[in-house]
Amino acid sequence: MKEPIGVFDSGIGGTSILHELIKLLPNENMIYVADSANAPYGQKPVEEIVALCKKNVDLLLEKKCKLIVVACNTATTNAISELRNQYKIPFVGIEPAIKPAVLGSKTKAIGVLATKGTLTSELFSKTSDLYAENTEIVEVIGKGLVEFIEAGDLLNPKLEILLKKYVQPMLDKDIDYLVLGCSHYPYLVPLLSELLPNNVKIIDSGEAVARQTNQILQNNCIKNTSTALGEILFFTNSKADTLEKIVNERFKSKKNILSKTL
Ligand code: DGL
Repeated sequence: MKEPIGVFDSGIGGTSILHELIKLLPNENMIYVADSANAPYGQKPVEEIVALCKKNVDLLLEKKCKLIVVACNTATTNAISELRNQYKIPFVGIEPAIKPAVLGSKTKAIGVLATKGTLTSELFSKTSDLYAENTEIVEVIGKGLVEFIEAGDLLNPKLEILLKKYVQPMLDKDIDYLVLGCSHYPYLVPLLSELLPNNVKIIDSGEAVARQTNQILQNNCIKNTSTALGEILFFTNSKADTLEKIVNERFKSKKNILSKTL
């Protein structure tokens, strides 16, 4: 089936997931929607997050998507059940990778950096209760981080100060895994690697989401059987500078088109 896979996020963060999707499914056509005009979602009330998600889904359905990847932890943990109830199309979501961190942890302490929306969601509490019997989960809200990433302002010293503040309570508990619970945060890995001791592994859910997407495509017999490289379309409803930079740097070798309007 040649119809595209739809991918959306509150902004540019989901491109970290898109990258993994393209790696595993290079022949699929994909449409990426960055709702940057409404970023960040992380501090918004649940009803507003759900409404924004529906708007993004409607847009991707207009563009004839066959499956939608919710490339945003905040959107997944607050809205995916409602989306699955309302729409017939299959959805793949992203949640913080607590399970592999808990299973791998030797110090029996892991850190989760995510938005307020994710950390206060019912879905997140259920997952953390399930896997954290013998492991301490140090949750920290990454307030203000998404704004720096959206602005492409990764070398700003204020960002480093903020990150230091956020990882300190985790280091105080001797974590050996840091779970990135927001799809924007993989863009912070270079900075985080400098701030964290060598024994702390940083993990995110990008590869798992790509594998799950592949599985759902197979289960529903909707894989694109073409052997040609898929086409990637990017849409944003805000200033496209950061997205444009990411597209040029990370998706250069792909057939892609960037549209500055949704
Ligand atoms: N990238 C999103 C996430 O994974 C949302 C960040 C935000 O908009 O607050 O949680």
